[in-house]
This record gives sequence, structure tokens and C-alpha cells, in this order.
Amino acid sequence: RDMSRLIIISNRVSATTSGGSGSQGGLAVALSAALRESGGIWFGWSGAETQKFTGHINLQRNVGVTTATIDLEAQDIDEYYNGYANRTLWPLFHFRTDLAEYKRGFAGGYERVNARFADTVSPLLEADDLIWVNDYHLMPLGRELRQRGWKNRIGFFLHIPWPPMRLLLSLPSHRELVESLFAYDVIGFQTHDGVETFLDYARGELHADIGDNGVVTHEGQSVRVIACPIGIDTADFVISANGPVAREVHRRMRISANDRTMIIGVDRLDYSKGLQERFLGYERFLAAHPSVQEDIFLLQIAPPSRSDVQSYQEIRATLDGLSGRINGEFADAEWVPIRYVNKGYPREQLAGMYRAARIGLVTPLRDGMNLVAKEYVAAQDPQNPGVLILSRFAGAAEQLTDALLVNPHSPEEIADALAGALAMPLDERVARWRAMMDNIEQEDVIWWRRKFTDALSNTLSN
Ligand code: UDP
Ligand code: G6P
Repeated sequence: RDMSRLIIISNRVSATTSGGSGSQGGLAVALSAALRESGGIWFGWSGAETQKFTGHINLQRNVGVTTATIDLEAQDIDEYYNGYANRTLWPLFHFRTDLAEYKRGFAGGYERVNARFADTVSPLLEADDLIWVNDYHLMPLGRELRQRGWKNRIGFFLHIPWPPMRLLLSLPSHRELVESLFAYDVIGFQTHDGVETFLDYARGELHADIGDNGVVTHEGQSVRVIACPIGIDTADFVISANGPVAREVHRRMRISANDRTMIIGVDRLDYSKGLQERFLGYERFLAAHPSVQEDIFLLQIAPPSRSDVQSYQEIRATLDGLSGRINGEFADAEWVPIRYVNKGYPREQLAGMYRAARIGLVTPLRDGMNLVAKEYVAAQDPQNPGVLILSRFAGAAEQLTDALLVNPHSPEEIADALAGALAMPLDERVARWRAMMDNIEQEDVIWWRRKFTDALSNTLSN
């Protein structure tokens, strides 16, 4: 072979590499192409539970892409996935120290599952593979692989924000966790802000040496840190938005909207997405503009997520109450202000819904990137595009500076942005959309994959 194989490791393996249907996610599309060309493998958890962990690998080959998955036992899922990943790291890294739980059992399960990943993937590896580990579930995996003798180039990409040093210090094992990252050759963050906050910690807590080109050296180990914002498969999304499924959904949405202007939100049901503040901002707008009230409605799609975790059960109950209260207060026999939908839709259908919406309302309190913001822009009609209202605390705000940027904690700013978006003339909508679309076209998911794998290929191995 004249190119190194690419080995992708992530908690979840995109189930959509089965291909052909056009329902693949952007990430799966971008990575599948690289995996296919290099003869690589995508390795991860199957999502399934087994009685007793065996390390048995389920290998599947679909349209040239090989996936390798393992099942985990109940205690693993509890301590590693629901525990350390989603009750410790996720809230902490999204600035919710109030929700973060620090239990030694979680940390132990996290270490155990990372070791299990390393043990089971090792027989699949070859000496010149390029190994790419993804996301907060697997931060110590690079170190585990090094301990098993792998000298390959190994990179890590964090899809979520990196927290400020002072927040990270509240994690009992913060130092060990961060030091484990020095086993990698390259660490990618979504934003420049992520790189800077990581360097703050490296400087302030580790007293590491920060060299040129983002190379950080600590106790003899060097790692290169880069900002590498993930994109969507823009060309493919534009095709989807103009395709038969999206067109049909769009047509039906227009009929059901009954000439009303639609505002759309699409989020996993997660407390980081700012749904409560969004509903309150929308309510404030309704209260302040009685004359336009019945001319608009909000479609909020919010598929439940991580529902074994208590904080997710709580945000769900909160939003049930809040949407019910707002609808009860404002609705009449022919109109409800919020269509609140707790189920997920395939991307082709979402594309049609985005296009039918005059406003995309994307207001996470913290988000690594937020792909929904980019998809909303990509799905618009170039002749008559809608307006994106975007939280300044989404990673996407570093790139989409022509959105209406808001502080998502402020229902007043959200209400003002809604008023501004509804009043925005066509020429301004087009100008803002064009500027955002230029970025989304240039920095798409293939650009992202290349930027990361080029950095990894061109960095000397640890
Ligand atoms: N998504 C989907 N169906 C849904 C809701 C969301 O396919 O009903 C997709 C959405 O199109 C986007 C992804 O899930 O590609 C969510 O990514 P994002 O970065 O916005 O947030 P995350 O869920 O990763 O925090
Ligand atoms: C975020 C994380 C991903 C995760 C996804 C869905 O995008 O960065 O790693 O896969 O949410 O969450 P879930 O817990 O269902 O995998």
C-alpha cells in the first residue's frame, strides 16, 4: 500500500456506513471515504450490552468500509458511558460543575473500558497505521495503546468544548487525565478558544513548555495542539435539501404551517442545548408582540438522549412543563405556539424542515461545534434564505460570524433577535447567508478530515 491505513476509534461507530440509502451522517460520509481509500477500520462500541465482556469483535464490511464493534457489559455501560463520560466529563466540559458527579467507581470504569478498547483493537492494528481517537469517552486510549507498545502516529480529536482551567481543577483526577493526552502526537480542538484554554492549563497547572506551531512539551513528551473545526458534508446536504424527500417534507410543512412563519430548533434533549432559555425567550417575544403572535410558531425537535442519566430525565420533565405552560397560556383553538416533538428524524427530512423555516434558532449554553447550525444554513433557498440565530457559545460561532449572535442565557436577547430576524429584509438575509455559506462550503467535513490527518501524518511520532 502506498498510503497508511486510517484507523478511527470512537465510542459509537456510525451505524450508517451500510451506505447506499443516502441517509449517512456527514461524519460517516467523510470518514467512510477515507476508510475505503486506505483500507482502514472504524472501531467502537456496538451500543449493545452483553452478559460478560469477552472482547469478541464483530467485523462487518459494507461498501468497502470495515467496521469492528464490541459489546460492553452492564457495569461498563453504567460506569463508563452513563457514568464517567456522561455524568462527569460531559457536564464538566460544558461548564456544568453543578451537575458533574465525581465517583471513583466511574473513574475506574472509564479506565477499565479504555483498557478494554486498547486490548481488543490491538490485534487489528499494523505498525504504520494512522490511528485517530475521537471524543471524551476515550481520552486515555492513546496512553493505553502506547503501554501496549504501539509506536504509530496517534491523534485525538475532542468534539466537545475544553473547559477553563479553574473548572477542570474540580475534577479529582484532572492531572492524570490531561497528562494521558501527551501520549498522542496531535490533539485537535473545535475552536481556537479550545486550544487557548488547553494551553492555559498546560502552562498554569503542568508548567509545560509551549513551543512554536502549538507544540506542547511536558516531562519529555510533546504533543501538537491544533484548532480544526468540524464541518458538514455541505455538497451532499445541499443535494438532500433539493431532493425528493426534502421537497415532499417541505411541501407538507408549508401546508401544515397554514401561512404562518416557522421557526425551527433541532437538538438532542440535552441540558447543554439551552432549550429552557430558548422557550423563555420565545415566550417573551410572544408576550411583547401580541399582533404577530398567531403568525408564527416554533417547531422544536428534541429526540431524547442518554435517558438513563438523571440530569437528562430532569431536563425532559422541565421542558414538558415549560412547553405545556407556554402552550396553555397562549394557544387558541386554531394555533399552538410551540410544536414540541420528542422524536428524531432522518437528515433528508430535517433538510426539508430547515428549508421551510424562516428562522433557525440554535441557542446552546455551550456546544463543541453545533452541526445543526451549519445544516440549517446549507438547506436554505439561495434566493430566499432564512435567518440563523446562533449562540455565541457554540463552537460554530467562531466561523458563522454573520449569524445573529446572541447570549443564550438571556431570554431578552433571544426575543430581540427573533424580532430582528422576522423584520430582516431580503438583501440582508441573502448577504448574511452568502457569507456563512462560503465558510460552510470551504470548511466542510472533508476539509476537516484532511486538516486533521495531514497534521497527524506530518507530525513526528512520540
Ligand atoms: N439529528 C438528526 N435527527 C434528529 C436530530 C438531530 O439526524 O432528529 C442530527 C443533526 O442533523 C446533526 C446531529 O444530529 O447532524 C446533531 O449534531 P450537533 O453537532 O448539532 O449536536 P450533538 O447532538 O452532536 O450535540
Ligand atoms: C455528541 C458527542 C458524540 C456523541 C453524540 C451523541 O455529539 O460529541 O460523541 O456520540 O453527542 O450522544 P450519544 O451519547 O448518544 O452517543
